[in-house]
Amino acid sequence: MEFTQLVQLRRSDYDIDDQVTLSKNEITQMIEDIISNSPTAYNAQSFQVLVLYDEHHHTLWDALEREQPGFGTIVLFADNDAIEERMPTTPDRQEIYKNQDSAILAYALWLALNNINLGATLHHFNIGDDHLVRDLFDLPDSWEMIAQMPFGRVVKPTPKSERLPAHQFITVLED
Ligand SMILES: Cc1cc2nc3c(=O)[nH]c(=O)nc-3n(C[C@H](O)[C@H](O)[C@H](O)COP(=O)(O)O)c2cc1C
Repeated sequence: MEFTQLVQLRRSDYDIDDQVTLSKNEITQMIEDIISNSPTAYNAQSFQVLVLYDEHHHTLWDALEREQPGFGTIVLFADNDAIEERMPTTPDRQEIYKNQDSAILAYALWLALNNINLGATLHHFNIGDDHLVRDLFDLPDSWEMIAQMPFGRVVKPTPKSERLPAHQFITVLED
């Protein structure tokens, strides 16, 4: 799909299910491709991505005490050890870059999922209280959960949400 159209069609797709014909391997390959090509501050690549399929997807959402249908969930983390090693800047800058790196990755993943006809949403359950998720999947203490992105086949498309006119948010200076 053409990029602008992809951006225009992206929605928060809450009504999804597990009826996906693509293989898990194809989806995982796509996720790896996005990971490998997303820009990061200092090229630090300090994020970690947990991809949960099958029972693992349900294990996560049961623990978060949420009903969450879908084919799988991508859980985004920042690895604070990697940030210390590979992001040589002040703690406040590390915090900014950590969040921007994750946001860039999340949006690329969201569009890439849409591009293969899967719907997704972005969630922030248990942020700052993520030991539960680390314990559940035996993850390192340095992994800080940033967001969850469940995905699957779109059952009912989400209507386009209202946007304020773009001219309110853009200033163009030109000769
Ligand atoms: C940084 C960010 C955080 C978000 N967090 C949540 C969230 O925690 N839960 C949720 O249901 N949606 C979340 N969303 C989705 C937004 O509410 C949604 O993108 C917005 O209302 C516009 O709707 P659309 O995605 O259908 O265009 C988040 C989106 C962004 C970009």
